Amino acid sequence: MNYIVTIDGPSSSGKSTLAKLLAKKLLISHIDSGSIYRAVTLYALENKFLSNNKILLEKLVNSLSNSDISLKENRDGIFKMYVNNEDVEDKIRGSKVSKHVSEVAKYEEIREFVLRIQRDISKNKSIVMDGRDIGSFVFPNADVKFYIDASIKTRSERRYNQLKEKEKHLSIREVENDLLSRDNIDKTRKKSPLIIPKNSLIINNVNRTIDDVLNQMLEYTKSIINKKMP
Ligand code: DC
Repeated sequence: MNYIVTIDGPSSSGKSTLAKLLAKKLLISHIDSGSIYRAVTLYALENKFLSNNKILLEKLVNSLSNSDISLKENRDGIFKMYVNNEDVEDKIRGSKVSKHVSEVAKYEEIREFVLRIQRDISKNKSIVMDGRDIGSFVFPNADVKFYIDASIKTRSERRYNQLKEKEKHLSIREVENDLLSRDNIDKTRKKSPLIIPKNSLIINNVNRTIDDVLNQMLEYTKSIINKKMP
């Protein structure tokens, strides 16, 4: 039996790290849905469909339908993001893409494009998928749902530590402001905003180790899946 585990939560709450580790423990695939929105944003920036927060939406959507934006599984079973056959994993994590991605992700046309990729990649396999609307909108009937949260202070520190090596000019205040602005856009957009999905287990991971949270998630998932397995 295939099953779906969803993990939603705000930026830098730790959900992608937990999703990756949980999938590894369960021996199933992990899909980071934010990476698809990030790839679309990179594509928009590189092809000049987006500048100074002005987006040429119709042109972007038309062009996307002729592009190849896809997740490809490597030999270790890890999915990596590609745009027209270029591995863009590094490029999509930088602060330029981060700064614009919530703005791009709020449009219905963009969300429909990403939804098709999300549904296609999840066919006929068990997956852990993380994002903002996975348990509420993409897979409302998922078998197991989590909502991961952490304080803005913890999230800013985490994100700052991830970026500071590569982006030396960044300050923690800038990172915090960027997260607050993304939270606001993600939670207030019309189309599938970030909410706590029905029937999800809420976990606040401030002051907890990754192992501690991971074990809780693993036990919870197994308890549900074991009951469903014939
Ligand atoms: O998880 P992340 O920070 O990589 O996500 C990047 C952005 O993509 C996030 O600010 C909002 C958007 N996103 C979304 O709207 N819905 C999802 N399921 C995943 C991400």
